Amino acid sequence: MKNILITGGCGFIGSNFIHYMLNNYDYKIINLDALTYAGNLENLKSIEGNPNYKFIKGRIEDRKLVSNLIKEEGISFIVHFAAESHVDRSITDSIPFIKTNIVGTHVLLEAAKENNIEKFIHISTDEVYGSLGPTGVFTELTPIQPNSPYSASKASSDLLVRSYVETFKFPATIVRCTNNYGPYQFPEKYIPLTISNVLDNQPIPLYGDGLNVRDWIYTEDFCRAIDVVLHKGRIGEVYNAGGNSEETNINIAKIILKHLNKPKSLITYVKDRLGHDRRYAMDITKIKNELGWQLKYKFEEGIEKTIEWYRQNKGWWMKIKSGEYLNYYKKMYGQRLQEGMQVVKDKVQKTEDIRLNRESRKGAKS
Ligand code: NAD
Ligand code: DAU
Repeated sequence: MKNILITGGCGFIGSNFIHYMLNNYDYKIINLDALTYAGNLENLKSIEGNPNYKFIKGRIEDRKLVSNLIKEEGISFIVHFAAESHVDRSITDSIPFIKTNIVGTHVLLEAAKENNIEKFIHISTDEVYGSLGPTGVFTELTPIQPNSPYSASKASSDLLVRSYVETFKFPATIVRCTNNYGPYQFPEKYIPLTISNVLDNQPIPLYGDGLNVRDWIYTEDFCRAIDVVLHKGRIGEVYNAGGNSEETNINIAKIILKHLNKPKSLITYVKDRLGHDRRYAMDITKIKNELGWQLKYKFEEGIEKTIEWYRQNKGWWMKIKSGEYLNYYKKMYGQRLQEGMQVVKDKVQKTEDIRLNRESRKGAKS
């Protein structure tokens, strides 16, 4: 029996990981989460009464709270998910990203060091490596070159973790993963936003030319990756995890539309994200060979399960989409969608003008 502190357990991957751990182990899980806009107690409703689970509302930057918690709960392992995680929000306002991702991680490291915990798993991202051209993959040795305030804040936290290992022999391991998708993902991220918009017959806002590539992993596969790193990973190492499933954004939109039997006309090209990374892809040889981790889900299977989950759990995302989210959506997409739709209207008008012109010339000849 171990007591594990999970930070950010009310978010997308954290809540999936808590369900996974309670289903597979007899550990006690303590979930520390600030319940920001992305934290949702509904994600954990089914395990609220589980004697092996406890929720504490609080921020990871709260040194006293975190230190007492580790001491009082007799924490052995920490799995650190808590973060501001959305690239677009970091472009609009990066301050919360600095506070949570950098300062918060630092506070957590200090409190964990003070209390001599056994193992600290830092959840990180492929975005710290920057962007790839049409070929190549990120390995654990790829230099860190983050491009957005989000990825720069995550890279900073990775470096802090590394420095604690080197300086204090702190027992940490870093896992860097590609784009996750699956149940309970907040509908600001591309896949849940697309599925929920399509279910609602709303346009899909597609950034730029729609040809940016991400490597998608079904979140249950990532939970199993964290499990092997927690139990078998070496201290001080970095392990990359990924789905071996590169897809363009336009392709994903088409897959979702086909599955839900909706028209392609819902795809609306909008102004691109600033500094939009072109392509991510991961070399996952190390975690497979060293820790025996295997992917269980192919993209086709994972996306089908995910679409089905959003179809079955309409109440979950409708509740989110009817709250503060409405302001976010208007600010992020209102003008972009109007401009995107205007481009389509102009194109249609231009084609119509050409047709009318041709017809009137034909008429004049005869
Ligand atoms: P999320 O945004 O869905 O959830 C983040 C959670 O952290 C929320 O419950 C939120 O309330 C909590 N939180 C935020 N600030 C906090 C603070 N100061 N103190 C305590 N709790 C706080 O994020 P996610 O998509 O589940 O990502 C989890 C982790 O995995 C992040 O560290 C992210 O960088 C990393 N990651 C995510 C992906 C992905 O595709 N989603 C891929 C690779 C890595
Ligand atoms: O790569 C791992 C990262 O994946 C994680 O570290 C981040 O926390 C997570 O948010 C995710 O970042 P991305 O920026 O890749 O994910 P997002 O879902 O925001 O966007 C995926 C792609 O879809 C990206 O190329 C931008 C595009 N996109 C996104 C949105 C929200 C659109 O075309 N339209 C949209 O409305």
